[in-house]
Amino acid sequence: MKTSFVVVCMLAVAFRLAAAVVVPAAAPYALKVGYYNSKCGNSSVESIVNETVTAYLDADNSKGAALLRLFFHDCFVRGCDASILLDKSDVITSPEKAAGANIGIAGLDVIDAIKAKLEAACPGVVSCADIVVFAGRDATRYMSKGNVYFDVPAGRKDGLVSSSAEADSTLPDSKADVAELVAGFTAKGFTPEELVILSGAHSIGKAHCSSFKDRLTAPSSEINASYRDDVLNKICASAAKANPTAANNIRDIDAATLGSQLQGYVVPAGGGGDLDNSYYKNNKNNVVLFHSDWALVAQSSTLKHVNEYAANGTLWNSDFTSALVKLSQLAMPAGSLGQVRMSCRAIND
Ligand code: HEM
Repeated sequence: MKTSFVVVCMLAVAFRLAAAVVVPAAAPYALKVGYYNSKCGNSSVESIVNETVTAYLDADNSKGAALLRLFFHDCFVRGCDASILLDKSDVITSPEKAAGANIGIAGLDVIDAIKAKLEAACPGVVSCADIVVFAGRDATRYMSKGNVYFDVPAGRKDGLVSSSAEADSTLPDSKADVAELVAGFTAKGFTPEELVILSGAHSIGKAHCSSFKDRLTAPSSEINASYRDDVLNKICASAAKANPTAANNIRDIDAATLGSQLQGYVVPAGGGGDLDNSYYKNNKNNVVLFHSDWALVAQSSTLKHVNEYAANGTLWNSDFTSALVKLSQLAMPAGSLGQVRMSCRAIND
């Protein structure tokens, strides 16, 4: 064997061992802004993520909403540990992505593409958990036209556990009332005001009819009757597709479907799917998709924040930014083991 070949083999073995190392993921891994600076040769990890996200969103901006939701659903369940990315396997028998609450979860192709580029640039260095957070942050920036942007601390490890039952019992239910929503968010360290702030993410994206079917027959005191009957019921009665989807924001429902039928509310001019405070304006007029959205105007304690953000988009941009930074810092349960996965879809051998 040539010496250079021996060296290559030794490096390969060392790398496999390093990648397989499983470490306690909590305290010793304090998160840091710029964590990957000079950890990936001459490549900038955050630039690779941003360029990939931008290319995907330029081609199809529905991926922006998908990546923001992926960020929320990953971090809310077991902390930001990429547990949502794991596929079914011998050890992960019913992963988070199989949960009912994760219906419509998407953007996984974008994460795979980013991971492939980063593995090519610096194998075994960048965790999938950090990729989900960076990609969610960059998608948010893109969808808000730069109004929501933040430096994100990094250095997370990828978890080894993923359970659909845990996702279903932790993620909020679209049929929930304020008390249930507040309890779920309080358990993760968020205030009722932050619940209202984070719910503004529903100014973008879409939902399956099964996620808001209770709203198709909800009383007119809870939903604009014309929105319910002329828009949502029509979309959901479409025979073209099983369980069709509707845009979360009436602004983004196509003009042909909307026609001139909506009574009782002037639909704001199309904003090209922007992430902004329009959710709060719609909500004050009972023109939102989920019961959990409407529930925020049904209680004075949350209504006051809906009013505040409907009136002040700049304030919402800034408070949404802070809430996402907080979301990005949710940690794995104490004592959890972590690693840097080689594939985001499977734990290392
Ligand atoms: C407050 C409690 C929440 C409930 C009950 C809820 C529920 C849902 C449901 C049922 C869907 C539609 C899924 C489908 O049918 O395909 C959805 C979509 C979405 N949610 Fe939430 N959500 C909540 C909070 C959040 C938060 C905090 C964020 C982000 C910070 C978020 C971001 C999104 C986005 C962006 C979409 C659209 C996804 C896409 O178009 O791919 N949601 N949500």
